[in-house]
Amino acid sequence: MVNVDVHVNYVHAQWSSRWVFVLAATGSAVGLGNIWKFPYMVGQGGGGAFVLVYLICIVLIGIPIMMSEVLLGRRARRSPVNTMRLLAQDEGASPAWQFVGWLGMATGFLILSFYSVVAGWTLAYVFRTASGLFAMENPERIKALFGVFVTDPQQVLAWHTLFMMMTTIIVARGVRAGLERAVKFMMPVLFILLLALVFYSMGSGGFDAGFEFLFHTDFNKLTPAVILGAMGQAFFSLSLGMGAILIYGSYLPQQSSIAGSTFMIVIADTVIALLAGLAVFPIVFANGLEPGAGPALIFETLPIAFGQMPGGLFWGTLFFVLLVFAAWTSAISLIEPAVAWLTETRGLGRVISAVLTGGLAWLLGILTIMSFSDWAFSFRFLGVEKTNGFFDIFDLLTTNITLPLGGILIALFAGWKIQRDHSREELTLRSHAGFEMWLFLTRFVSPVLVGVLLFYLLFGHYFNA
Ligand code: TRP
Repeated sequence: MVNVDVHVNYVHAQWSSRWVFVLAATGSAVGLGNIWKFPYMVGQGGGGAFVLVYLICIVLIGIPIMMSEVLLGRRARRSPVNTMRLLAQDEGASPAWQFVGWLGMATGFLILSFYSVVAGWTLAYVFRTASGLFAMENPERIKALFGVFVTDPQQVLAWHTLFMMMTTIIVARGVRAGLERAVKFMMPVLFILLLALVFYSMGSGGFDAGFEFLFHTDFNKLTPAVILGAMGQAFFSLSLGMGAILIYGSYLPQQSSIAGSTFMIVIADTVIALLAGLAVFPIVFANGLEPGAGPALIFETLPIAFGQMPGGLFWGTLFFVLLVFAAWTSAISLIEPAVAWLTETRGLGRVISAVLTGGLAWLLGILTIMSFSDWAFSFRFLGVEKTNGFFDIFDLLTTNITLPLGGILIALFAGWKIQRDHSREELTLRSHAGFEMWLFLTRFVSPVLVGVLLFYLLFGHYFNA
């Protein structure tokens, strides 16, 4: 069927079943994005307004684009770069489409560089919680403890290094031995623990205020920065737009349902983000804290809860351990596209590929570490003051620009360039209407929505003058 010159004979391993794919993709999606980033973005974005836009984006953009990524990956069974190259050739489209794969790889490095730093904070918080540091401490002191910690580059560098090594090891071991085992039992436990935290929050005295903050939509708060941030967060949280889901899809066995798997992944990801919000904001309001605290938010709130609740030492430690695992299963998907590409194209082994890619992301991470101390600088973005230099630049550049751009291109390619018969055959949707719906969302709705928002972001200031 396929007539190409791109490394015809490299065959990647496959997941042992569709369930493993669902777990792995959920492992990729559920991570710091849900538990660390979502609450602080909601806090900065004015609460319910952000949540509403986020949920709309999940349905109209997230679902069709996730299906598109899985479809493309499974059809070509290669790294994103070679998937785009091969399918473009197959469908008679321009070879320039491989740009999507390159953009995705670059994005993965940038995201992993700061992701690993924050995962490093989380690792440190496992030990800090376990040591009893937070027991019965007051909110100001807990806040100060975090402030001292993040501004100490040596400590943070050590944790960042440890986390990057953990990530590299799993990636080096490969899809089956490394990725599969890691996700199988961690996801369910994390879910149960979050539920327990929400129960604690219900009794904290701030639950009504927290609930109201999350779900009451104040339309005055819908600024361009909030709308863009919410759309970007939908991409970030679902791991879309850079080929992570595409590469996981390329390991998916042939007969598995793509739509069914996508729904499960999306629902799990969304529920976990909302639960994290329900756990965090009651604590914020019960203690008179600032919802817009930014990246520090969960590190300033959750230790308060763990410091006060019975058995908090145990539950708190367990919680941060699970958050490390959630971050770990996400981080591996950020370099897997580059590793797969190196093994296919450069003939390198997985170990050396993993070390090279992990090493590069590790180096870049130093810029983020320094952004919280000596090299901090501020700038304005869409009228919002950003104070953490390179960290903010990397985050905004990926979350708000390259992920949505990659998403548009993936949707356009899957919707317009892949022949209908081919996409229908690959998606194996039982209902005709379901397929037409996917096609419509992929061809028109998601590219136009994302395109308009991106255009406004990049060129809007010319119109507002
Ligand atoms: N989705 C993950 C999280 O929420 C982060 C992540 C993993 C990601 N792979 C990605 C984000 C690919 C964007 C693209 O923590």
